[in-house]
Amino acid sequence: MLLNLAQSRRALFFGGKGGVGKTSVASTTALAAARAGRRVLIVSTDPAHNLGHLWQRSIGADIVELRENLYGTEIDPEATVEEHLAAVGETLYSVMPENLRGEVKRHLELSRQAPGTHEAAILERIADLLVLGLRDFDLVVFDTAPSGHTARLMALPEIMNSWVEGLLRNRQKSEKFAAAVRGLEHDTNRDHLVETRGQDPLIERDLRIRRILLRRQSRFETLRDTLRDASLVSFVIVTNAERMPVLESAQLYDQLKTAGVNVGGLVVNRRSPADAGEFLAGRRELEASALELMTSELKALPSTELPLLPGELMGEQAIGKFADLLA
Ligand SMILES: Nc1ncnc2c1ncn2[C@@H]1O[C@H](COP(=O)(O)OP(=O)(O)O)[C@@H](O)[C@H]1O
Ligand SMILES: [Mg+2]
Repeated sequence: MLLNLAQSRRALFFGGKGGVGKTSVASTTALAAARAGRRVLIVSTDPAHNLGHLWQRSIGADIVELRENLYGTEIDPEATVEEHLAAVGETLYSVMPENLRGEVKRHLELSRQAPGTHEAAILERIADLLVLGLRDFDLVVFDTAPSGHTARLMALPEIMNSWVEGLLRNRQKSEKFAAAVRGLEHDTNRDHLVETRGQDPLIERDLRIRRILLRRQSRFETLRDTLRDASLVSFVIVTNAERMPVLESAQLYDQLKTAGVNVGGLVVNRRSPADAGEFLAGRRELEASALELMTSELKALPSTELPLLPGELMGEQAIGKFADLLA
């Protein structure tokens, strides 16, 4: 199932409850695809990165080569927010008059703390990496943050629309302020603005900002459309055969379905062996009853079981051995 998806799609997302093995399974799939000759980029979107830990090297925000055909990067949320605000600030400073610099600065400071800013910034980075990945790589593997965070990220256009709308609204307030400063009565009626374009510098600016923001909005709409294209992108839910991860997987499945994202498969990781003594055999039975809790939709997904490993999964060799099990 995993090799199939890695062969047939251009981008795969791995998601699930914290600690179930998202990073391990994403890296294993990425390595298997790289071995098969695909040029693969693995992207960690989880602020609690453990990609570098797994590969036993520091990764970070730049794309680094992990081995032949395999590259990795970790999204740094703080740095991404700063970059995002710097870009927004540059745009605002370039279009706002000198006397509103203080307003812009205050807007940016508020934005830093505003709900949604983090996600907007991470989304923007995901959008960039997806575009770059589709251009320069055969496959992009996203190792995502625990379910709730990722499901929200997938509910894209709404978050972005309100972000852009907020900017437009704030900008309108600034516009009124500017008008007041200049003692002008500024008519914000759109039709009027378009008609009188080219005559009033305020109107010129208004249209410029609007264009920039709308371009931004359309970028996120493109991202949403890509994420919803099942021939390009698929989501793999990773779980353990335990009650809580199984229940959370059902929730994640529903959220992804609502967001219109194709779910291509389910991985049940860390399955206890039946033939390694009474203790683990007992665990295995318990796991079977946890798996019974799966919804019919989860049960209907193509699935793969991966065994509980006796040792720690770390380093290319160990990942490679795990990848052998996918064949
Ligand atoms: N099949 C497995 N058998 C044993 N340990 C595993 C297995 N899969 C993952 N692990 C270990 O479990 C821990 C969590 O895995 P990780 O992939 O980091 O989860 P997540 O990314 O979902 O938080 C890591 O220490 C990893 O080495
Ligand atoms: Mg992880």
